[in-house]
Amino acid sequence: MTEIKNAHFTTLQGAYDTELMEATLRIRRWDPDTQRARFDTFTVTVPVTASVLDALDAIKDTRDGTLAYRKSCRMAVCGSCGMRIDGGAALACKTPMKKFVDAGHTITVSPMGNLPVIKDLVVDMAPFWEKIRAVKPYLDTKDEEVPDTEWRVSPEHHEMIHKESLCILCGCCVSECNSMESDPDFLGPAALAKAYRFVGDARDTDTRERLRDLNGAHGIWDCTRCYFCNQRCPKGVDPRDAIAKLGAESFKEGFVRDEGARHAKVFVDSTYKGGYLRETELVPKTIGPVNAVKDIPFALQLARAGKVPNPLSPHKAKDNDEVKRLWKLLEKEAKGAERPRAMHPDAVREG
Ligand code: SF4
Ligand code: SF4
Ligand code: FES
Repeated sequence: MTEIKNAHFTTLQGAYDTELMEATLRIRRWDPDTQRARFDTFTVTVPVTASVLDALDAIKDTRDGTLAYRKSCRMAVCGSCGMRIDGGAALACKTPMKKFVDAGHTITVSPMGNLPVIKDLVVDMAPFWEKIRAVKPYLDTKDEEVPDTEWRVSPEHHEMIHKESLCILCGCCVSECNSMESDPDFLGPAALAKAYRFVGDARDTDTRERLRDLNGAHGIWDCTRCYFCNQRCPKGVDPRDAIAKLGAESFKEGFVRDEGARHAKVFVDSTYKGGYLRETELVPKTIGPVNAVKDIPFALQLARAGKVPNPLSPHKAKDNDEVKRLWKLLEKEAKGAERPRAMHPDAVREG
């Protein structure tokens, strides 16, 4: 049996004959009493199978009991242990320590971004929950007769909202959202993924009202499409994709007044009609001709810097037929993805 170096893991090592390793972590501390931040570095002995959360537990148990962080399930289910590891949000319980130890790398652990810090690695989740509440995270069936028994949905229907249903509300996506960094009122990736989970639900009857609200200020069109939320989500929810689906549903419902919506629509219409993007139409059709005239000095600056395309010779796709084939394929897929009806128990019995 390997020599036991840390009483914290005595039981574990005794039970599994676990090999141990030395893990070093640099942790950002925030003291709410003094309002001062500092970094502390700790080296602890942990099993080679330890996660970052295990290493934090070892620090708290054996080195500094005042270290504050959140945890519960230890298995990537509860969403409590979101924090930044080397600058990017992740679940501490889902991040193995060994790869860092093997690389001789000292990780820096800090609290999630875009949320106020309460103490050390603990952030105030109140603004997060406020936004989740704002998108009505529950079924609204006011126009439907609700069955007394379980209201089943077909597998095809569930597939449409499956990814969004996987969200564990950990906040990792919110932590890295650059739109929220500049606009703290932006609904953000977690709330918008939750919104699509109900917009896409065939049992919900509030689709139009939901989409109308989501097309307002700080809604779906304020996303900068940086895709950081998709990169950081530990559960494969892909919130940016959910926002794109909300955009597509908004078009179907005729919500195209927001500048962001008009911008996206010019892209779609232009490539649909001609197979290429007519960039000279982009600005007037997005912000309107009057505002486009106001922007002429800026356009001249861009032209001087060689950043304005020649309007007489627009950028063109090499193979327009290929673009048209792609459009046909998309249209075919979109038809197959029409929202199927929820399965009413009566229908199941009749079927
Ligand atoms: S893609 Fe949009 S929602 Fe996702 S992190 Fe970037 S700005 Fe935020
Ligand atoms: S979408 Fe992903 S990262 Fe965002 S809260 Fe849900 S599980 Fe966490
Ligand atoms: S402790 Fe529950 S997700 Fe990490």
